[in-house]
Amino acid sequence: MTHSQADANQHRLSLAPMMAWTCPHGRYLMRCLAPHLRLYSEMLVDQSIIHGPLDHLLAHHRDEFPLALQLASANPETLATAINAVHVHTDSTAIAEINLNVGCPSSRVQAGGFGACLMKDPVLLAELVDAMHQSAKVPISVKMRLGVDERTGYPLLRALLDMLAQHQCHHVILHARSAWLKGLNPKKNRTIPPLDYEMVHRLKAEMPDMRVILNGGLASAEICEQQLQHVDGVMIGRAAFADPWLMARLEKRLFGTPIPTLAKVVQTMMPYWQTQLNAGARPFELFRGTMHLIHGMPGAKRWRSILTEACHANALDIKGLTTMAHDLMLRAAL
Ligand SMILES: Cc1cc2nc3c(=O)[nH]c(=O)nc-3n(C[C@H](O)[C@H](O)[C@H](O)COP(=O)(O)O)c2cc1C
Repeated sequence: MTHSQADANQHRLSLAPMMAWTCPHGRYLMRCLAPHLRLYSEMLVDQSIIHGPLDHLLAHHRDEFPLALQLASANPETLATAINAVHVHTDSTAIAEINLNVGCPSSRVQAGGFGACLMKDPVLLAELVDAMHQSAKVPISVKMRLGVDERTGYPLLRALLDMLAQHQCHHVILHARSAWLKGLNPKKNRTIPPLDYEMVHRLKAEMPDMRVILNGGLASAEICEQQLQHVDGVMIGRAAFADPWLMARLEKRLFGTPIPTLAKVVQTMMPYWQTQLNAGARPFELFRGTMHLIHGMPGAKRWRSILTEACHANALDIKGLTTMAHDLMLRAAL
């Protein structure tokens, strides 16, 4: 199977799924900065979807498209039921991809038998992929690690990807390090063991029909461009919220879209925030992704302090924020 150029372009730049960060608010901010960015939701467990509330779990803004929904499951039947529920609940233009989490090492996820543990059970993984094919009306993908515990090394990874290809899954996102399920918490599992981009390059070179997206430690536009010479796409996680403008710079380099002014982004976000606050959104969730929007610029500290105050008081000083935003817009326009 080959991928068309237009199709390929849709996957060159993605935002990694991150619990608490790639909520609808974080994703909407990223969409303002990078119109071609493929957005991934936070991980949703199949059982949560089955038991709802779907309005809350599947909340999204129409501008988020293309949006990929990430699911976690260890049971083909409940996975299929959850995917069917997603399709019944969302209109056909809401979700562009369904992704399976095969990389999370947390103890909670291990207890459920999903996430990175699935790399130890290729038979179950294959059944889950089959279930996704049978129920999903949109393309599917798998996000995984290079290995898990003592099961590491190129031959094992290659065998897993061959199996995925045999089950018609031709799109993988590789967090380019192994996962340690015992003794390392999820945070440490994002820095230890070291990244191995070369293993990902080799995989793509040997499996040209597999769409291979590289993830892990990508924090500059230059490095992403270098990596794109070896893989089909790059996925950015922590760096996207540490410096949101990285995504705008990448969007410009990869798709030629002009970088929006700070004024434009704030102007777009203000009505969104207002609507969300009126609808009862919690400031802490609403502004988490926005803390570093004024990154390395004058006013950054004041910006964070207004938002932090809002989060603590659970109420936003809209007047303060509006004044601040207007100041910033004026300054940005100079
Ligand atoms: C706070 C946080 C939450 C995460 N949640 C998820 C998740 O829900 N699903 C998932 O597949 N990966 C999750 N990850 C892993 C990221 O998607 C990504 O693979 C990892 O952070 C490495 O990419 P980075 O170095 O660009 O951050 C999470 C990472 C962080 C920091």
